[in-house]
Amino acid sequence: MTKILAFSGSARKQSFNQAVVEMAAEGAREAGADVTVVNLADYAMPMYHQDEETEFGIPEKAQAFKELLIAADGFLIASPEYNSSYPALLKNAIDWASRKTNDEAVLAAYRGKVAGIMAASSGGLGGMRVLVVLRMLLENLGTLVIPNQKAIAKVNTLLDSSGRVVDEKTVQQLKALGAETVELARKINAD
Ligand SMILES: Cc1cc2nc3c(=O)[nH]c(=O)nc-3n(C[C@H](O)[C@H](O)[C@H](O)COP(=O)(O)O)c2cc1C
Repeated sequence: MTKILAFSGSARKQSFNQAVVEMAAEGAREAGADVTVVNLADYAMPMYHQDEETEFGIPEKAQAFKELLIAADGFLIASPEYNSSYPALLKNAIDWASRKTNDEAVLAAYRGKVAGIMAASSGGLGGMRVLVVLRMLLENLGTLVIPNQKAIAKVNTLLDSSGRVVDEKTVQQLKALGAETVELARKINAD
């Protein structure tokens, strides 16, 4: 079964991006994938510092996050846009997971994987600028990012009081993104 890991680049309680990625994850599940949704709030890791890595190795939470990536065939990632780019939280997690330990292959967390990417903002552009740089980052690490992507503007108007995405058009678009990510991951892993 195709394995998908879904997470956002926000550890904020009530994060819009976490809500959005959870809806894309539902689409992936409906498409038949084995989907794990995680929150980076549960994988707190220090800011990457090479001297500290040399002295102490990879922190436990960073290694655990990397192992989730390694185990997945594909990712669903929703990122906030911070000053036109990805938040340090997301880049830091991606950086730690790029570090090799033991007998892992180089960039084992990323190479040969597929990703569906999305962004959400209460602003009018929906964080569309972060998608450009996030796509480039993932592709450079060896992850194939599917052509479809979604920037959700005025996301705060599309949720119910529990913080779940309920706007029907947005729900359908996010589920479709989740399903397309599964479909490509399946094709890539086909014999
Ligand atoms: C440092 C910082 C920079 C931001 N820059 C942008 C930006 O460039 N574009 C944008 O649409 N929103 C920007 N925002 C607003 C975020 O979109 C907003 O905080 C959003 O809710 C973050 O996503 P989350 O709800 O998933 O945490 C910025 C917020 C912060 C804290």
